[in-house]
Amino acid sequence: MKQYATGLIMTALLLGCGQSANDSVEENNVATSEQAVTSVTAAKIIDADPQDWLSHGRTYDEQRFSPLNDITTSNIDELGLAWYFDIPTKRGMEATPIVVDGRMYVTGSWSIVYALNAETGEELWRYDPKVPRSWARYACCDVVNRGVAVWNDSVFVGTLDGWLVALDASTGEERWRIDTIDRQPPYTITGAPRVVNGLVIIGNGGADLGVRGYVTAYDATTGEQRWRFYTVPGNPEEGFASEAEAEAAKTWSGEWWTMGGGGTVWDSMAYDPELDLLYIGVGNGSPWNHQIRSPEGGDNLYLSSIVALRPATGEYVWHYQTTPGESWDFTATQHMILADLLIEGKTRKVLMQAPKNGFYFVIDRENGNLISAEPYVLVNWASSIDKETGRPIETENARYTDGPFLMMPSGLGGHNWHPMAYSPASNLVYLPAQDVPWVHLHDPDFKFVPGVWNTGTVMEAGAAPDDPEQFAALMNSVRGQLIAWDPVEQREVWRYQHAGPWNGGVLATAGNLVFQGSLIAEFAAYDALSGERLWQFDAQTGIAAAPISYGVNGTQHVAVAAGWGTIFSLLGGEATASLGMKNISRILAFRLGGDESLPAREPVAAMEVPIPPENIADARTVAAGKGVFYKRCFMCHGDGAASGGITPDLRYASTETHMIWDAIVLGGSLQDNGMPGFAGILSQDEVDAAHFYVIDRAWRVYDRQEAQRN
Ligand code: HEC
Repeated sequence: MKQYATGLIMTALLLGCGQSANDSVEENNVATSEQAVTSVTAAKIIDADPQDWLSHGRTYDEQRFSPLNDITTSNIDELGLAWYFDIPTKRGMEATPIVVDGRMYVTGSWSIVYALNAETGEELWRYDPKVPRSWARYACCDVVNRGVAVWNDSVFVGTLDGWLVALDASTGEERWRIDTIDRQPPYTITGAPRVVNGLVIIGNGGADLGVRGYVTAYDATTGEQRWRFYTVPGNPEEGFASEAEAEAAKTWSGEWWTMGGGGTVWDSMAYDPELDLLYIGVGNGSPWNHQIRSPEGGDNLYLSSIVALRPATGEYVWHYQTTPGESWDFTATQHMILADLLIEGKTRKVLMQAPKNGFYFVIDRENGNLISAEPYVLVNWASSIDKETGRPIETENARYTDGPFLMMPSGLGGHNWHPMAYSPASNLVYLPAQDVPWVHLHDPDFKFVPGVWNTGTVMEAGAAPDDPEQFAALMNSVRGQLIAWDPVEQREVWRYQHAGPWNGGVLATAGNLVFQGSLIAEFAAYDALSGERLWQFDAQTGIAAAPISYGVNGTQHVAVAAGWGTIFSLLGGEATASLGMKNISRILAFRLGGDESLPAREPVAAMEVPIPPENIADARTVAAGKGVFYKRCFMCHGDGAASGGITPDLRYASTETHMIWDAIVLGGSLQDNGMPGFAGILSQDEVDAAHFYVIDRAWRVYDRQEAQRN
């Protein structure tokens, strides 16, 4: 996954003003750590009590719609902060909290689980799986976690370094801990598990670096493995585990298994109890570039597909491939919503997804047949999806076989993991969408290197196209919007244009409201029908996660995990750096009359660049260093070596850091803080060149600051 960012993001930085009303709310301790916890069962998740949020998307259909209607379009101005809980880490927050009977279970970065009293925010327990910080080098997109699952009285979390852990919901004590990856890097887990009929289902990530994707089911009580489904075929010489795998192998060419193949199931799943089908969203190829991965072509099943499985056995039932032969980091791991829609006079059981590739898909979830697909953002790689074949009609050079292609959307997606929501009251889907283009360029010198990013495309080309016209086109098209989408008519009903892309996941409620946080720290509520922004709160930090709504003692709450971070702040470069956003990882909970306020925001001190080392390199070395930087450093240290505040901004490195550069970059002296060592991956010359590129970037800031001082 990758992207490129521009200065447009920083325009219109209108931060919302804090809201607080005066009514004080009586504090009833509904949940204490001694009290027995409520048992979560399938029946409870299916027929969910409106007060609870029992599963990742609230219910198995993942609609993210709360039937609670105390907070409405008419009283929303009385909504205020009820409590906040400070998370002690400083990296990205992406979790959806689970609420069971007044207790909230939520994760922060490094897969740490927090159990909170959902009425007061008081901490009940905390579980730290002690993820080795060195594992961060395998995480494409920050050391995030999207949440837990709860079943009976256990809480389940997948850890960044590949363990699946069962915890006692009342105490946080470990019940079992299973290795889901046999300690094989570069697998990671960032997604939330789902539990179906007593089986905990978990996938993994790593397809940007090079792995073979799969999902595994474990017995919720014992942790015993029940089945595993590989999303891409292995080496044919070793035989295939199933008919589905043998069929998939016919759609591949070359020796894809030597590079993993990809297809990780790193986020979305949904379940239909009536059809007894588990739906998994499958990711991009390893490497991205189709010409390299599968040189003689082929669709490369089950990459970029929605696959329906029998949850008891993992048996394949059907698939629909949203991007055949994917070559652009186009995952189909985006959030899937199940709904029954009236289409041409008939009630259809549909599955809906807005995958990265920019088309909104409505699929028959009984058989995987395409019902309709229309673009929801700017799309230029395909003109349409053919209704008969279900396949995209690709445009010229979309596969960048004849030079660079300016791609819309980019690998960052027209929509990424940030969950959308469906309201059965308005029959609309609320979709966090964005237009972030990117240039794809074939890498003729590609060599697979285990354990680092292996895309097969030249990232540098994407970050800053030299052609001024292309660059202007990029600049003008970067934006992010909340879209209300009619899935029957396949058209946009309204949009709220944000200041920039990469905004938060969405919640819809029966109070005719839609809630969403933004990259620039606004937490806001919109009228579900008109799209008017009715309320906003200054969260002091960017929000990417999706809000939830729940009730305690009959009082409706809305909560969200706030915290700057995630992939966008890692590689966003100057555009994200200039926002000056700090990570303040916090759970924020709101209710009518809430009168809590956040502590005053610490002023962001203006930083001065120390005098950089003398730049003795010639332009060619700096250019070569730029190439190294975009291949090996950009994904964590940002476009143009400007950091979005999560990793150190290398342009501001101290004289001491420049002196011990090789020990850090080659020797791995900061490995335990998540800075990988590159010995065996980069040569001394390459490290030197990248260093000179950073020095060159540092001088630019230094000279600018010097000019301002004079
Ligand atoms: C997987 C993410 C990741 C990648 C890839 C990465 N870094 Fe880092 N880097 C970090 C983190 C995290 C830190 C902060 C470590 C700490 O807190 O001590 C860091 C710190 C550093 C520092 C120390 C900065 C200071 O001011 O203390 C240098 C120098 C550095 N990185 C250079 C590089 C170079 C050069 C590359 C590419 C060859 C690179 N890094 C690739 C994550 C990464």
